[in-house]
Formats: sequence, C-alpha cells, structure tokens
Amino acid sequence: MGLKVAIASDHGGFQLKEFLKDNLDIKWIDLGTDSEKAADHPEYGHKLSRFVAEGGAEFGVAICGTGIGISIACNRHPEIRAAVCTDSTMARLTREHNDANVLCLGARIIGEEVALDVVQTFLETEFNTKKAKYARRVEMYNDFN
Ligand code: RB5
Repeated sequence: MGLKVAIASDHGGFQLKEFLKDNLDIKWIDLGTDSEKAADHPEYGHKLSRFVAEGGAEFGVAICGTGIGISIACNRHPEIRAAVCTDSTMARLTREHNDANVLCLGARIIGEEVALDVVQTFLETEFNTKKAKYARRVEMYNDFN
C-alpha cells in the first residue's frame, strides 16, 4: 500500500502496534511508544493527531488498552475524526460515513487477526462523496458554538 500511515500507542497497545507493523506492508511512521513501560495514552494520541493534522500522514492508527482513552485525546483535535472500531464493518462505515482519519484499536479487546482486517478495511475504504448528507454531517462536527 502506498499510503503513509502514522501509528502510536501506549504501553497497552505496544505489542499490537509492533504486530501491525510486522504484518502489513504500509509506509508506517511510528510515533511511539517504544516499549511496554507505562506510558500515558493522551500523550501519544495528541502526538499522532498533531502529526496527521499537519499532513505528515494520510491516516493514523492509535492503540491503547480499550481504544477509548486514546480516541478521546485524538478527538480533541478539530482536524481529527477518530473512531474506535472492533470489526471491519465499523471500519468500513466510519470511512464511508464519517470520513474518519484516525482508527483507534483496543489491544485488550481485539484479536490480532481481526485487527489486521480492521486496519486493511479502514485504509482501503473511501469516504462516500456521492451522498451530500455525509459531507454535510462531517462539516457539522466542529460546528458546536
Ligand atoms: C492503560 O492501563 C489503559 O488505561 C489504557 O491503555 C487505555 O485502555 C485507556 O483508555
């Protein structure tokens, strides 16, 4: 795959991060963490989100124990639409409907083989531009004032 994809995790997601890098032929940009030593997931969510928002990668993959904590940090960035997915249907629909640009995974929740399918589906699926309602709704995510 020719895509540049940033990947980051806390300690809970470290093993899954390494597994994905070893098993998917993608131009990964690894933003850490680099061991199973305790690391704060918000730090890695923010680092990855800043990188994607600044155009360093087309997409990001963010991993923690559940995927939830790191997704909360990622979604504080207005340019980021981070989605926790546990199967490839969620991965497909969040690309088609939400134009999600960061995939969040829970290493304690998802198995390695399912995670491979989820990442592949997320990266291969295009945002559905044929229906204006999806683009309108994506525009509305930052329209809360
Ligand atoms: C770390 O122990 C754990 O809290 C973290 O990986 C994540 O699951 C938080 O949402």
